[in-house]
Amino acid sequence: MNSIGFDETRVTPVPPRLEVKNLMRSFEGRTVVNDISFAIQPGQVTCLLGPSGCGKSTTLRMIAGVEMQDSGEIYVDGALVCDTIFRLPPERREIGLMFQDFALFPHLSVADNVAFGLTSGSKAEKRARVEELLERVDLMRFIDGYPHQLSGGEQQRVALARALAPKPKIMLMDEPFSGLDNRLRDGIRDETLNILKEQDTAVLLVTHEPEEAMRMADEIALMRDGRIVQHGAPYNVYTRPVDRAALAFFSDANVLHATVEGALAQTPFGQFLAPGHPDGTMVDIVFRPQHVRIDFDRGGTGPKPTATDGTAARGVVQRARFMGNESLVEFVMDYDDSILRATVPNVFLPKVGTVMWLTIRRDKCFVFDA
Ligand SMILES: Nc1ncnc2c1ncn2[C@@H]1O[C@H](COP(=O)(O)OP(=O)(O)OP(=O)(O)O)[C@@H](O)[C@H]1O
Ligand SMILES: [Mg+2]
Repeated sequence: MNSIGFDETRVTPVPPRLEVKNLMRSFEGRTVVNDISFAIQPGQVTCLLGPSGCGKSTTLRMIAGVEMQDSGEIYVDGALVCDTIFRLPPERREIGLMFQDFALFPHLSVADNVAFGLTSGSKAEKRARVEELLERVDLMRFIDGYPHQLSGGEQQRVALARALAPKPKIMLMDEPFSGLDNRLRDGIRDETLNILKEQDTAVLLVTHEPEEAMRMADEIALMRDGRIVQHGAPYNVYTRPVDRAALAFFSDANVLHATVEGALAQTPFGQFLAPGHPDGTMVDIVFRPQHVRIDFDRGGTGPKPTATDGTAARGVVQRARFMGNESLVEFVMDYDDSILRATVPNVFLPKVGTVMWLTIRRDKCFVFDA
């Protein structure tokens, strides 16, 4: 019993809108989906994020019911929709689909394309829903047009409206925004999410673009070689990567190689704590360009060592580029001629050949086994 006299232990837990357990799929003896499990609540967006060929679309297709898993189960609102024995047909799963290769019906008008999935309701109700959706994707002017009269991006928005129309319990989206230009994409993305959240739809979105995942997801499931290697809120996945590849998937990464001695890794930037790495092991110290600090050379020396930033190492500017929000500077480091990248907010374009001193934020570094 809690302080307001409400017995929390008696509340029946609500099952997730979508749950997959231990999904497996092989093609010609090669496992492409390897023990995938996750759950999505109503109104939540999970992004399957990973490189090309890691098994994202195959996972989605199994949930949609157009591909059969070798083993594992799929549940919607706690009810089994598919295991190796039982299989609810795709059209009865109340799952909306928006795939890479969306196809509109060429012989149907835009309005009829959007209305296609609406099975219940009067003619007037269907028309109202079609108009509401076309309004929201900003295509009312094409309502009586035909797909061939629309640009690729416009057709994609019609396909979105069509997928949203029946208010599916779950929406599976496979790179649905990839054909849109940048300016249009942000608007359509946000509007699509608003509609899906209003409808309490659980969304599984596939993308290989980290920015898109960060922008859209409540949770990111990072995939590699058929497995989910890390799953969590975007902030956690970004700031606490499980390994070097997970970090490098989200941003550029600098790497220092070192050997552990007495739980410390010695580098040209001073010592790094390497707890949990036995003496003698090789480690990679990985950090993002935005966590490199740059100081000017003062008569052949750099800033004094500190506990938070370690020791400064000397480098020479090889290249500097303005990227819009920040500048990217590449250094050739004195200690072994390797390249280190640093980003600086706004405009910072030192001349090639300028000598500078670099330090690394200790709390922003990751030590991984090499
Ligand atoms: N029907 C099939 N027969 C044989 N191999 C397949 C089949 N479907 C997918 N694959 C293989 O499974 C692997 C995963 O494919 P999948 O389409 O799931 O990747 P993905 O993560 O969606 O990649 P992308 O980002 O390029 O779309 C690929 O190597 C692909 O060639
Ligand atoms: Mg794919």
